[in-house]
Parts: sequence; C-alpha cells; structure tokens
Amino acid sequence: MRYYPPVKNLLACAAAIIVSVSFSLASAQSPVSSLTAKPAAHRAVSLINGYQPVWWKEAVVYQVYPRSFQDSNGDGIGDLNGITRHLDYLQKLGINVIWLSPHYDSPNADNGYDIRDYRKVMREFGTMADFDRMLAAIKARHMRLIIDLVVNHTSDEHHWFAESRSSGNNPYRDYYFWRDGNPNPADPSHPLPPNNYPSFFSGSAWQFDPATKQFYLHLFAVKQPDLNWDNPKVREDVFSLMRFWLDKGVDGFRMDVIPLISKQPGLPDLTAEQLKDPSRLWANGPRRDEYLQQMNREVLSKYDVMTVGEAIGITLPEETNIINSERHELNLVFNFDAVRLNRGDGYTERPWKLTDLKAIYDNHARVLNKTDWDTVFLSNHDNPRLVSNLGDDSTPDYRVRSAKLLETMLLTLRGTPFLYQGDELGMTNYPFTQLDQFNDIEVKNAYKAKVLTGKMSEAQFIAESHRFGRDNSRTPMQWNAAANAGFTTPAAKPWLAVNPNYTSINAAQEMADPNSVYHYTQRAIALHHAHMAFVYGDYQDLDPTNTQVFAYTRTLTVPGKPAQHFLVVLNFGEKPAEYALPEGVKAGKLLLGSVPGTTEASTATLHLAAWDARIYTY
Ligand code: NOJ
Ligand code: CA
Repeated sequence: MRYYPPVKNLLACAAAIIVSVSFSLASAQSPVSSLTAKPAAHRAVSLINGYQPVWWKEAVVYQVYPRSFQDSNGDGIGDLNGITRHLDYLQKLGINVIWLSPHYDSPNADNGYDIRDYRKVMREFGTMADFDRMLAAIKARHMRLIIDLVVNHTSDEHHWFAESRSSGNNPYRDYYFWRDGNPNPADPSHPLPPNNYPSFFSGSAWQFDPATKQFYLHLFAVKQPDLNWDNPKVREDVFSLMRFWLDKGVDGFRMDVIPLISKQPGLPDLTAEQLKDPSRLWANGPRRDEYLQQMNREVLSKYDVMTVGEAIGITLPEETNIINSERHELNLVFNFDAVRLNRGDGYTERPWKLTDLKAIYDNHARVLNKTDWDTVFLSNHDNPRLVSNLGDDSTPDYRVRSAKLLETMLLTLRGTPFLYQGDELGMTNYPFTQLDQFNDIEVKNAYKAKVLTGKMSEAQFIAESHRFGRDNSRTPMQWNAAANAGFTTPAAKPWLAVNPNYTSINAAQEMADPNSVYHYTQRAIALHHAHMAFVYGDYQDLDPTNTQVFAYTRTLTVPGKPAQHFLVVLNFGEKPAEYALPEGVKAGKLLLGSVPGTTEASTATLHLAAWDARIYTY
C-alpha cells in the first residue's frame, strides 16, 4: 500500500518524486483522522506526470456483494459479520478499498438496490453495530470503505413513497413522478401509460396506482419508483443521508445509475431512434451536472472521499463532464465500453476482436486529460464472470491462464482498478439449465416478456441468460471444498446455489497453490502498489492492429530521476505466438509471468504460450 501507513507513504513518495510537504500530510492521513470530516480542497501538491496525486488514484478496489460473500449465522445469506471475518483475506490479497454493494434495509426486489430505509442496515445482513464493527476493522487494517448510493430511485416501501402515493396533495407527492395516463379508447377504465418509456426490467416504465388513479415512473422494477430530483427537498434529503454515512467514517460512494437523476423536461415520448437505447437520453438530462455540482459543493467537498458513478447511458466524451476535477462533480465513473464489448441487444452476443478492445483503451488515452481519471472495470455483479466473459473457462488450464491474463490487464492498464469478488480465484459462470435456478428480477421479468409471449424459445432464453445473466456473478464465494463451499454451514440452503465447481475452484485450495490465480493476482496487486508508473505513468499501445497480442508500456518520467519503463504483453488466446517487440522497447527483467516456469527475459523477441501474460521492466 502506498498511501498508508503515513510514514511509508511519505518516504515512498519522496524517494520517487518531488512531493511537497503539504501533499504528504494531506494524503497520508491516519485511519483515525479519516473518520473525521475534513475539507479536501486547497492542497498544495506537486503533480506527478501532470496528475494531481490522490489516494483514490493509487487504490486497488475490491467489490463485495454482501449477500454472496460469507454467511456467518447459517441462514444461507451473506452478512456483514461474514465480511468482517474475511478482512484478513482481503488485506493479504493487497486491496485497500472495499466497495460494498447495498447494505441498507430493503425488501430485496432487486437485491438491495431498492432501499426502504437509508439509515438502517438490512436485517438479513446484520445490525448497525455489525456495520460499525466492520468499518472499524477495515480502518484498523488501513483499508477504506466506499458504500453504494442508490438514489435515482427508492423502494416503493420507503416511507417517502408510502406518503407520496397516499394522496394527490400529500407533501411527498412531488418526491416522485406522478402523471395522468392517456385515454384508452378500447377500455376507458384502464388508461394507457403517460409516455412510451420502457423499463430496464421489461414492460412499461409506468405503473398505475389505483389509490390516486395516476401512474408513477419506475425506470427499473415496479418496486423501484424514480425520485424526482427536480424537487429541492429530495436533494436535501439525499444529501442528508449521505452526511449520515460520511460522518460515520465511510470513505465515499459508488453511485448507482447516477446520470439518470435529471429527467427530460415534460417527459416526452421517445422517438423510434431513441427507443433503440433510451438510456442515452435519460442519462443526459439537462440538470445532471448541476445536481452533481450541488452535491459536491454541499456534501462531498467537505470530506476526503472517493466517488465513482455508474456511467450508464453516457459516452466517454460525455463522461468527462462528470470526472473533470475542475468541474467539481465526481472523481470517477465506470465506463462500460470494455465490459459490454461483446454484448448486442439484451443478452445477445456480439462478436469482438482484440483490436476492438485495444481501440477502447487507445481512445481513453486520447480523450481523457490530466484533469480526468479513469477506472479499469471489467466485471461486477451485473455482468458475467470475468474469466467466462473475456477469457476461456473451457479447460482447467485455460481457465487459470486466461484469468491471470485478465487480472494482469486489470492491474496494469491506466486507471483505478476495480476487482470483483471471486475473480481473484478465477470463479466461472454457473451452468444454468432452467429458469428456476435464477433469482434475478431482470431474468424473471424478461422471461415473462420474451418466452411467455412466444417471442423467444425457452432454450434460447436459458442459453442467453447463462451467457450474460447477472446471477452468474452472484453465486456464493467459493471459500473451500466443504459442503456449500464454506459460504454457509453445510446444513443451510444458500440463497443462490453454489457453483458445482467449488470442489476444485476455491480460496483454500488456491492459497495453498503458489501457481494459483489467487497468488498471481496478489503478486500483480503488489506490483501495482510498488510502482508509481502503474498509477501515474503514460500508456502506450505498441501494436494496435495486432489481432492476437496486446502489448503496451507504462512509463513514468520524473524530473531528475531515471524514467521507469514497464512492458506488459498479453497473448489473447490459445495459439502460441512469437512476438517481436518494436524498436526501442525491450523485454528486460521479468517481473511476473502467468505461465509457471517462464524465464524468458532480456530479449526483443518473445515466445508466448497459450494465454501467456507477462510484465517486464526495462
Ligand atoms: C445498477 C445496479 O448495479 C444493478 O444491480 C441494479 O439492478 C440497477 N442499477 C438498479 O438499481
Ligand atoms: Ca447470514
């Protein structure tokens, strides 16, 4: 870790670069001081390669999906005490920030992304005392915690919505979007929705409420009504709940579908063109940046936090409005270019080439300025398992190698890396064969909309959901080879079935095997932490048109010091490759290689095995 502990941070920075004392003090806060709110503004810092150094740029983040991480009380549902139990595991892995998916009180229509009470812990996950203990234990290990902020919508069981739906003139009515329906000539007693917005979870985005005979807007599930951010009271209430958690000592937020908070004035129908991807229009509402700037001014700027928005619906150039540090909105966003590279409509597959993936990162390097900062994001709880998605899980050997290759990429590309739980073990998609194996509302609703209406065959639907369904990543963590993979007690029934491959793919086995994905990931994280070039260094794709080998450099030049050069070479696929490096680039000293026994070094021509990944310095 580089920004903790303070003294080490100061020495490391001083050795590598010219850093002013005020930066060292500002960034090298102790875990105790980070519990107190303090202004982050006006730090005098020396830039590193033109970038302002900040702890969240240097962090390696690990996402915990609490329901599936560790059950501590045998009810089959992961919980906060389960997370606390595994903090040593996470610390040993080397990560230093945890992103916790929603832990709030929720009826779980969408696994916690439907919040009933923002100031309460979900009963199944434990108590506020459990949360406080977990947070203290995280801080004691010099790690930080960011939590999920889900404020585009609430649960329909939130008391704001209960009030809102109770009458047309309730003071909370305007916390949500209520509209009259359109006349229905065929059936006048059943009006039609106010406009043609579709929901992300199938069907119309409008739900008729018989009590007041109006429709409310829900871009996601019926039980997730959208908040009306145009109402200043909504914004005040959201800012207040943010302060509640920040004052407890959390270190920031991952912001769920945050670009959707500003709706299009008048909510006009989408045109046929816009209907192809409504999120484009929804994400670019006219007051989005104004609201984020207000949030920054009134809340975020008062604390030393990390904020990362889910950049649904917006393109890379649009994202820069949000992440440009001079505009004072958020620090980071998740860009979906890579994770959705192979995705067509819905869960359909789109063929992709390695050159498409390279083009994404080349484009990021071109578009993002020194005032912007990127994330490296390849998987999460809404996407398939990383190795099954972009690697090869068809044989045990290829699974291990391609998982290592993808972890290498994640930890050496430019941007703050986000690991998703279980990817450090090379966990795979689940072998789904039938509908009742799925829990996810997205799959269940899509089944009704597609299969029950005869638009798609059951077999095709299951095949597509197996390939891209969100439950692939939500199956329980595989801790060991005991019954239920050590996720819960052997007698319990996990809320979602454990992947049957847990007897061979699990943390205990991998921790005992020096050649495992786990150990490799640990080494790659250590390298990321050890060399500033992986954080602040320039990125250069050596060979954008090569369809098999992805080779790039990370270079950090600091005045008065020798430049730091790193070379990353990734052989994407099972075909071995002989690869001649371009002029001026050398494979010098081998720092890490995914294929055990690799020694090739000090050469300009590499002989790469199937799914070979290497990191050199020169
Ligand atoms: C994005 C979250 O990651 C996903 O899990 C959720 O279903 C939607 N937003 C709605 O909150
Ligand atoms: Ca439990």
